[in-house]
This record gives sequence, C-alpha cells and structure tokens, in this order.
Amino acid sequence: MARDQRDYYYRKAKEEGYRARSAYKLKQINAKFHIIRKGSKVVDLGAAPGGWLQVARELSGGIVVGVDLERIEPVEGAVTIQGDITKDETLEQIAAALGGQADVVISDAAPNLTGIWDVDHARSIDLSRAALRIAKRLLRPGGSFLVKVFQGDMFDDYIEEVKREFTSVHFYTPPASRKESAEIYVIGKKLLSAPVRPGEVYEVTIESTGRTGDGIAMIRGFAVIVKNASPGERLKIKIGAVKQRFAFASIVERI
Ligand SMILES: C[S@@+](CC[C@H](N)C(=O)[O-])C[C@H]1O[C@@H](n2cnc3c(N)ncnc32)[C@H](O)[C@@H]1O
Repeated sequence: MARDQRDYYYRKAKEEGYRARSAYKLKQINAKFHIIRKGSKVVDLGAAPGGWLQVARELSGGIVVGVDLERIEPVEGAVTIQGDITKDETLEQIAAALGGQADVVISDAAPNLTGIWDVDHARSIDLSRAALRIAKRLLRPGGSFLVKVFQGDMFDDYIEEVKREFTSVHFYTPPASRKESAEIYVIGKKLLSAPVRPGEVYEVTIESTGRTGDGIAMIRGFAVIVKNASPGERLKIKIGAVKQRFAFASIVERI
C-alpha cells in the first residue's frame, strides 16, 4: 500500500514536471488551508530541489524566495538563495530578496537522517525553530506559516511556541505524505502583532466598559477584555486568547 502510494506520487511528479513528489503535499495543504493566494509573497525554507517552489510560484504568481543549504536549480519567476536557515546572515539575504514583508513563510526543511531517533528529532526541531524565527521576523501581521515538524518529545513545546505567535494553529498530514513518516505539517494562521501573549500576567487599571459589559484595560495601546471587571478597578490579570485586535484576560487578583 505504502509502496503503491509512493510510486503513484513519484510517477505523477515525473509526468507533470515537478521536481519532487513533495509538490503534491503543498498542493494538498494549500487546497485545505488556502495559505498561498494570488499575489502572495512567499518564502520557502529548505526548498531544494524545488518542488514546493514550483507550486508556490503557480499559486501566487508573485515574489517567491527559496532557500536551501544545497544549490537550487533556477525556477522561473523565483529567487533562490544558497544558505543555512539557522544563520542570521541568511535571514538578511532573504529580507533583501523580498524587499518588504512576506505574506507566507513555508518550511519543508529536514535534516539528513542518521536513523537515531532522538538525534533526528532534535535536529528537525532546531530547523522548525529556525523557520518560526524567520516567520516572526519577515511575515506581515496577519501572515501565514506552514512548517514540517517531526513528532517526538519536543513536539508539544514547539507547538506551544507556534501557538503564541498565531491566531489559530492547525495540524495536517496530507495524503501525499508517506504513511510510515513521523512528519506532520503545522499551519499557523494570522501572525499576531499584539504586544501581549497568552499566559502573561499584568497589573492594569480597567479604563472602560465594552459592549458586552466586560471591563477593558489598555496595554501598550492594545485592548484587553477582562470579564467581571469594572472601570477604575486595579487588577492583576492573566492573558487568555489573543486575537488580531484585542485579547481576553481573567482576573488573578484584585489589588
Ligand atoms: C524534504 S527536502 C525539501 C523538499 C522541497 N520542499 C521540494 O518540494 O522540493 C528538505 C531540505 O531541507 C534542506 N535543509 C536542511 N537543513 C537546512 C538548513 N539548515 N538550511 C537550509 N536548508 C536546509 C535540505 O538540504 C533539503 O533540501
């Protein structure tokens, strides 16, 4: 079954002119989550040999920048950079090639596998972290992130880091992924530009009342909605869900 499926996407890629069978993973992910749209500026990390780059170009038709340790054969309409995504200088090169902020950062980067599970998992998490760091630096507020992550001990901690930065986080294993693979694709939608993050604690004064009767505190110009709080109250609050334009918080203590 796995073998038939592998052969199916392998043959299909050959027939349809894609450099890698992984091209179908991006097509399937995008069909479900719509992260790359017409005109999107896309950064593709770990892009060699260029299957995702081909698909990203088709979907966006706009600026697409691909980066890999290996040299990437040119893809029409895309800029390619040879570099290490864990290095600052690579980030600077990508920023220069983009000439502004990106709408989407995608990463299919994977280490050379040693076969030693813990080592492979730790290396792949390092790459997923490097991808998140680049996404935080280069995405516009509201932009989208797609990253390959290998399951293992550090998976949950990494997901928490992604959840802190995006309004919503989804998981998906596309049909084109090999059945035996431990990979899972994580999709972060709507990069938060808010100055607060879930779990943070602040001391605030409630300034006004919202439409629903809840209290509103402002933190660095950002509205935080606090249930059961009234104007003038001085509170210690804990941030809950964070949205694009406001956040929710609960009362820890009245001061
Ligand atoms: C699964 S392949 C990507 C396939 C690609 N999405 C495609 O469709 O053609 C993973 C890539 O990650 C790259 N990679 C691994 N570590 C990297 C790093 N530190 N910086 C940049 N690329 C890296 C590898 O060189 C490899 O080409």
